[in-house]
Amino acid sequence: MPEITVHAIEPADLPDVSGLHARAFGPGRFVRTAYRVREGTPPISPFCLLAEVSGELVAAIRFTEVMIGGKTGVLLLGPLAVEERYAGLGYGKRLVADGIENARRAGIKLILLVGDEPYYARFGFKRVPLGRIQLPGPADPARILAAELEEGALAQYDGAVEAAGGS
Ligand SMILES: CC(C)(COP(=O)(O)OP(=O)(O)OC[C@H]1O[C@@H](n2cnc3c(N)ncnc32)[C@H](O)[C@@H]1OP(=O)(O)O)[C@@H](O)C(=O)NCCC(=O)NCCS
Repeated sequence: MPEITVHAIEPADLPDVSGLHARAFGPGRFVRTAYRVREGTPPISPFCLLAEVSGELVAAIRFTEVMIGGKTGVLLLGPLAVEERYAGLGYGKRLVADGIENARRAGIKLILLVGDEPYYARFGFKRVPLGRIQLPGPADPARILAAELEEGALAQYDGAVEAAGGS
């Protein structure tokens, strides 16, 4: 893997990050759960990260501070996108791992996402029991995953997911 720089997404990075999302997900991206939850909130949170190689954007991950059933301490991960020509080189894994570490240090208890269990299981994500958490948009229940950053955290949360202030 070539030299990689990971840093927080700044407002000036947003056009490039949006371009990456458009290439990775196409026009249907706006109905995705992460977009629906973020509606009406600022476009970046302090947890969003990007990866660059020689100054070129190769991957980006967004995290949104959310509440579940009105309780804070939760991040929604998504989207994670890697430029196609850089896929499979470890950039996605690096951004997820760094994002989880930052969240842990900030006292986040739970990270939620809608995604592929075989990819995210390596980071400790597990299926959320059916019906425990309600997300806006079309989310396949088998793809609603959560990683506990504090033991037993998931049991503290149930209900609807909505953006928390300032995310
Ligand atoms: C899916 C994606 C984020 C993976 O990132 P990446 O940088 O290409 O992959 P990494 O190098 O971090 O990880 C590679 C590993 O993940 C596995 N993997 C990649 N995509 C996978 C998937 N959808 N399901 C299961 N495993 C997957 C690979 O087999 C490889 O496994 P290994 O480590 O055991 O060899 C990236 O390819 C991408 O942006 N795809 C298009 C957008 C997308 O689907 N995003 C995810 C939804 S939010």
